[in-house]
Amino acid sequence: MSNKLDLAKELIGRRALVTGGSRGIGAAIAQRLLDAGTQVVVAARISNDDTPAGATFVSGDVATSEGVEAIATKALAALGGLDILVNNAGGGRAFLEGSWTIPDKEWHDSFALNLFAAIRLTNAVLPALRTSKAAAVVNISSVAATMPFGPFAHYGAAKAALNYYSRTLAMELAPSGIRVNVVSPGVISTPGSAEFAKTTPGFSSDDWVRNIPLSRIGAPEDVAEVVALLVSDRGKYLTGVNYGVDGGMTAR
Ligand SMILES: NC(=O)c1ccc[n+]([C@@H]2O[C@H](COP(=O)([O-])OP(=O)(O)OC[C@H]3O[C@@H](n4cnc5c(N)ncnc54)[C@H](OP(=O)(O)O)[C@@H]3O)[C@@H](O)[C@H]2O)c1
Repeated sequence: MSNKLDLAKELIGRRALVTGGSRGIGAAIAQRLLDAGTQVVVAARISNDDTPAGATFVSGDVATSEGVEAIATKALAALGGLDILVNNAGGGRAFLEGSWTIPDKEWHDSFALNLFAAIRLTNAVLPALRTSKAAAVVNISSVAATMPFGPFAHYGAAKAALNYYSRTLAMELAPSGIRVNVVSPGVISTPGSAEFAKTTPGFSSDDWVRNIPLSRIGAPEDVAEVVALLVSDRGKYLTGVNYGVDGGMTAR
């Protein structure tokens, strides 16, 4: 018998929920998991043409507790259990005049979307993950969590809190065999980042590339590949770690 890994089949029988899977990084993660044989549910507020065809779409707003409950209930019903949770939905608007111009509501909204969504959804599906023999959670953070930048202070602070929460959860759940890791993208080409570049002066692709040692913007698939490693048996000894997928941005 060969011990060679068959990457095309390594996730057959696994069941995954990917938030923000209707486009961008989340859609690439969902597609990568589907390609490896996973049954996938993607959640977002609205389905669109980028939503992977092989996935089941469930609608809901992860920034509210009601939305999270609805997503968890529909996903568990569709999958009959859960092995993989990817908390990917997130984002934020820039306030170019400085952190002191970020309205109170925007701070609350950012923490609801970039932190509380992951906490609430993880708590909602934890009983299902506890019954899985190969449970893995991946939270999508950002290099913004460790690179101070006033216009995105609300977003970076929420992602920094997500990093701390994830590490703590990893330690709490390690005895149950549930692994928790973080992936921190740098600048990745997605509808979200394209909208940001279009509406924010000084943040075009050329401006970003000058600060990326590998001299290119990342592709959503670059992030998806690391997530696939982390949730697979190849990653079975990995927990509590934060993996930068940033072309070397944070290594400088
Ligand atoms: N792209 C980058 O350069 C970059 C860099 C660092 C970190 N990240 C992180 O990577 C993740 C994905 O980013 P992306 O660039 O792929 O984003 P994107 O292109 O804007 O896509 C965001 C996805 O999340 C969903 N979403 C947004 N708000 C939601 C809500 N309240 N409830 C449910 N779903 C929601 C969107 O669908 P609906 O709008 O229909 O709900 C969509 O599916 C985010 O956590 C982001 O912070 C991205």
